[in-house]
Amino acid sequence: MSLEIKNLSAGYGDIVVLRDVSFTVPADQIVSLLGANGAGKTTSLNAICGLLADVKSGSIFLDGTDLRSLAPHERVEAGLSQVPQGRHLFPFMSVRENLEMGAYAKRSHARHAENLEWVLTIFPKVKERLSQYAGSLSGGEQQMCAIARGLMSQPKYLLLDEPSLGLAPIVVRQVMSVIKTISARGIGVLLVEQNVAQALKLARYAYVLEHSGIAIEGAAEDLAGDDRVRKAYLGL
Ligand SMILES: Nc1ncnc2c1ncn2[C@@H]1O[C@H](COP(=O)(O)OP(=O)(O)OP(=O)(O)O)[C@@H](O)[C@H]1O
Ligand SMILES: [Mg+2]
Repeated sequence: MSLEIKNLSAGYGDIVVLRDVSFTVPADQIVSLLGANGAGKTTSLNAICGLLADVKSGSIFLDGTDLRSLAPHERVEAGLSQVPQGRHLFPFMSVRENLEMGAYAKRSHARHAENLEWVLTIFPKVKERLSQYAGSLSGGEQQMCAIARGLMSQPKYLLLDEPSLGLAPIVVRQVMSVIKTISARGIGVLLVEQNVAQALKLARYAYVLEHSGIAIEGAAEDLAGDDRVRKAYLGL
């Protein structure tokens, strides 16, 4: 069981951002996708979710199901969920309403009450703020709310785009700890991070995007000791 991206080439019109990119997220693991600003991390996630018009070639399999011909909402029904960079909450809706927006997918309806209960258990801060406007939450609380919303569709695979961006170190640690809890539940996690040190601590395996392709990949602990990664991404 895995989310498998094979030979993906994509971009924006004539601009090629990804060339022949392949990576795999096993169902029970946290895998990290790393790379500098503009390397194509968000473009990769959008291509997987069906949000990118210019996917030129490649295949995307979710537990064997080919997603390429499916619309974004059908990919959610197949078990895919993205927590976008910058969170994109609905600021003038309550936290509860934001969570309900995440539960739109039919796949989650039968277990809606259990899903909500679980999500509020792992995010007690979100539970305290259910009736507040999402836009009134702190940055850390908004990130938690966005992840909680992403979990409400009961995904098999969760794509997290820079969940630690702009958060204080203590909040980053909370978010990372929750990602572990999510993975322990059997949800495959693709973690896009600028915080390379944290990501390599959390992930089992990692890929580095450079010059439109996967330049380095390997077990996260090996990458943490790799000279190229240490120099370019860990400032060592
Ligand atoms: N809508 C768009 N139209 C044209 N080019 C785009 C568009 N969105 C992104 N790009 C370009 O595609 C490249 C990859 O961008 P992308 O957002 O995927 O990078 P990223 O790795 O997520 O970067 P960051 O770490 O800053 O979030 C960049 O050169 C960017 O300028
Ligand atoms: Mg990005």
